[in-house]
Amino acid sequence: MGRLDGKVIVVSGAGSGLGEGAAGAFVHEGAKVGLLDRNEEAIRALAERLGPAAFPLPCDVTSESSVESAFSIVRERHGRLDGLFCYAAVQLVGEDQPVQDCSLDVWERTYAVNARGVFLVCKHGAKLMIAAGNGGSIVNCGSPTGLTMSGAGYSAYGSSKAAVMGLTRIMAADLAQYGIRVNGIIPGSIITPLTKKLYDDPEISAKLHALHPIGRVGLPEDMNGVAVFLASDESKFATGAHFTVDGGVCVR
Ligand SMILES: NC(=O)c1ccc[n+]([C@@H]2O[C@H](COP(=O)([O-])OP(=O)(O)OC[C@H]3O[C@@H](n4cnc5c(N)ncnc54)[C@H](O)[C@@H]3O)[C@@H](O)[C@H]2O)c1
Repeated sequence: MGRLDGKVIVVSGAGSGLGEGAAGAFVHEGAKVGLLDRNEEAIRALAERLGPAAFPLPCDVTSESSVESAFSIVRERHGRLDGLFCYAAVQLVGEDQPVQDCSLDVWERTYAVNARGVFLVCKHGAKLMIAAGNGGSIVNCGSPTGLTMSGAGYSAYGSSKAAVMGLTRIMAADLAQYGIRVNGIIPGSIITPLTKKLYDDPEISAKLHALHPIGRVGLPEDMNGVAVFLASDESKFATGAHFTVDGGVCVR
């Protein structure tokens, strides 16, 4: 028996990195999983690899009509939503800067995905959960960059992640009455396409490794355990919390 048998879960940002890893772990534990991403090719290929329990939801999270149509597909297909994981984000490495040098364009492109996108996905996911009446678990993805000095130099990205962590707590307060739990995950630095440019630079890469007291940076699979726990009923008393799985970055 899987730990997520019978559950329907949507993962935004499922085309790559942490979202891709979590989607595979959810299918492995028995869930039906909607793979939401703007990279259609990636989610169609992933759906093929994961088999009939997974289905692609092509969607641009910055557009409300696109997000609404993605959730209407979930409603028509399953009539319920038990889990929602918001991983889609961008980090404009090489463009994001300390505030005095950060362009409005970089700020707005970052916030469009990382803040507006999370808001829209949570809004339409929560509406479906409320309408279905079975409660649910929503998980947003924060970052040490929104909490610690590891965000220095990334005004737009780090502050957008702080915004997400704030929204997570407010949603937890507002949605508890519907049996919907809302928590956040705070990963350490994980090697994914998002961070590739950072790891391509030997100096930055060495700094990132040194930032983790546990002695190494993370891989997407390091984040699957906490995701399955939060999607499952094992975490049924947890809401409004942030789960830090970061190799110790936040205790430095
Ligand atoms: N990788 C890290 O070191 C790290 C650290 C802390 C937090 N995080 C957070 O973890 C989450 C996942 O990061 P990742 O490293 O797996 O990133 P990634 O770049 O590997 O994956 C992000 C996915 O989001 C999708 N996406 C981007 N914009 C979109 C849009 N407008 N509409 C729909 N989909 C869109 C991309 O197509 C991609 O598939 C993000 O929220 C990120 O901020 C990552």
